[in-house]
Amino acid sequence: MGMAGESRNWVLMVTAQTPTNIAVIKYWGKRDENLILPINDSISVTLDPNHLCTTTTVAVSPSFKQDRMWLNRKEISLSGGRYQNCLREIRNRACDVEDKKKGIKILKEDWGKLHLHIASYNNFPTAAGLASSAAGFACLVFALAKLMNLKEDQSQLSAIARQGSGSACRSLYGGFVKWIMGKEENGSDSLAVQLTDEKQWDDLVIVIAVVSSRQKETSSTSGMRESVKTSLLLQHRAKEIVPKRILQMEEAIKNCDFTSFAQLTCADSNQFHAVCMDSCPPIFYMNDTSHRIINIAEKWNRSEETPQVAYTFDAGPNAVLIARNRQTAALLIQRLLYYFPPNSDDLNSYVIGDKSILQDAGL
Ligand code: DP6
Repeated sequence: MGMAGESRNWVLMVTAQTPTNIAVIKYWGKRDENLILPINDSISVTLDPNHLCTTTTVAVSPSFKQDRMWLNRKEISLSGGRYQNCLREIRNRACDVEDKKKGIKILKEDWGKLHLHIASYNNFPTAAGLASSAAGFACLVFALAKLMNLKEDQSQLSAIARQGSGSACRSLYGGFVKWIMGKEENGSDSLAVQLTDEKQWDDLVIVIAVVSSRQKETSSTSGMRESVKTSLLLQHRAKEIVPKRILQMEEAIKNCDFTSFAQLTCADSNQFHAVCMDSCPPIFYMNDTSHRIINIAEKWNRSEETPQVAYTFDAGPNAVLIARNRQTAALLIQRLLYYFPPNSDDLNSYVIGDKSILQDAGL
């Protein structure tokens, strides 16, 4: 092995931090389960890493006997296909790495023989419909790409993160991001591109109302599998509705047109949950509190000349509310506190954040 000295005691580490993202035009349904290829394009907004993010440290050392991973301090298995696909794709692209200060040199052919230790930490509830897998796989791929000195750009890395979890590909960028479904059978053109960076529309404020931090009953993966098998509405949505909405949403984002943005975001969230209901057996991700939040937002928007807030719900009951600006966000929180006073059992907390950028906390 091309490493300086014969010592097996060295460790090389990289730490990265990646925020989660929330889709405003949803991804729901795969055409290829193994490669994770979607049946439609989707668009998301990346959150502020200070609020909902994953921090991952990847380490390599000749003394490590096998690949191992810890999630929130608990060891988890890396034997699943998704982890294996990401690790394989990254190792295939690894390059020479030299750390002169530590006197370490790893040649690209050595990476196949070296083992990794991975420690990942979410600062928010895992698998509660707050896109933890999105931040998790994006961060894993980003950190490993740094460690192994990959030359690929963010979009190419996004196609690797996609194989960990579809929505993860969109967390490789800040701001508004589009996941292009692609046409190739091998998935090489199914990747994320940045539509606008986080500075572009910086009035927006995202408020997450944590309705429940319990783990969801139906994972996104199995939920969308059922929808693909059984929902006719899903077929119509993917072919007829989403392509038009994607164009309209891109236009709204480009023009910072909140009225269109809010209409499209709310309509797409509602249609996604309608698809879940249209699946057999039906899948319920929202609960009564979620429905009350929709009512509050709808009534408010209708009482004003233009919409003040957009709402969207992923595969769980938690509400992601996007306010037109800071002032509206303050009013929104006032309203939430009025309807769900601090001593109520219905809503545990609010997480507030701006749109944000991927932060490289690399060492
Ligand atoms: C409702 O990306 O979690 O959040 O690709 O099977 O890992 P897998 O699914 P995942 O699904 C996310 C679904 C969604 C909508 C979205 O993020 O676009």
